[in-house]
Amino acid sequence: MPPPPAPAVIVVGSYVQDLTWRCAAFPQAGQTVLGRFVTGPGGKGSNQAVAAGRAGADTLFVGAVGADAFAEVARRFYADNGIAARFIPKPKHATGTAGILVDDSGQNEIVVALGANEALAPRDLPAALFAGARIVVTQLETHLSAVAHTLRAARRAGAATVLNPAPMRPDFDPALLRHVDILIPNETEFVALVNQLGLAPGGARRPYTEAALAKEKPAALQALCRRLGPPVVIVTLGKRGCFVSQASGGVAIPAHVVKAVDTTGAGDAFVGGFASGYVRHEGDILAAARQGQAVAALSVTKFGTAPAMPTAAELARFLRKAG
Ligand code: RIB
Repeated sequence: MPPPPAPAVIVVGSYVQDLTWRCAAFPQAGQTVLGRFVTGPGGKGSNQAVAAGRAGADTLFVGAVGADAFAEVARRFYADNGIAARFIPKPKHATGTAGILVDDSGQNEIVVALGANEALAPRDLPAALFAGARIVVTQLETHLSAVAHTLRAARRAGAATVLNPAPMRPDFDPALLRHVDILIPNETEFVALVNQLGLAPGGARRPYTEAALAKEKPAALQALCRRLGPPVVIVTLGKRGCFVSQASGGVAIPAHVVKAVDTTGAGDAFVGGFASGYVRHEGDILAAARQGQAVAALSVTKFGTAPAMPTAAELARFLRKAG
């Protein structure tokens, strides 16, 4: 029998159990507020894989979990959703956890304990894993040696490599960008990268800021993106949509207008939606980014992270309505 076809999208990254409290307003330091609690599957890598899989791409998630009840939640969630997953057991570590606060405006604050994700190692990711994949996605919520190895191995296997530099970390080595075909930072991560690489337009003494990014004209933003290095840079800008920079030029894509109840995981929805769009539209970056925008817009209309990712049917309905 021939081997089963390789998944088109592979996401190597974090699995985290999200512990979420909804409250009217975030507590100040020293203050206690009342809230409501929910828990469910999360983690940037896993959220991205779920977004890609639910949007219709043949997807494999690869990540590390402990030997605890949260790891069982992960296995059950993937089985229920019919999405392939390879959970690498790290019995000496706890499955990752995140404490998340979501206020009435849908904004969030997050603290992540990486746990088993920090033990994900290059030896867990053999070269054969990547054979046949069209696009391989990773982020910064695992051990950084696993991130570097994933990007190198995926490129050797002929896949397009995507780095979502989230969350940006002080130990991130910008040399990694050499192995990235498509870089997808949000505003905070983009600003951090510009400063770390010494690209601030005002020079080293005037660090680049999100306020400056918000005022940036498309031509200046395109010039900054080009200096980061990867052939494609997509800056996600929340309610303002995203900016897609390629060597041929920069294009701003506006966001869909929706009623947001919880923006947690919206960036992950974009990345997963983009990856599945990349496969569906055969490498067309702008079409893939438009699909990312639609998946992100739908995800913020529901509470939660992975469970809020839209299905292919919901996405198709939304795109039909949006024209
Ligand atoms: O991007 C949102 C995710 O970040 C949450 O699911 C949480 O687990 C943190 O990793």
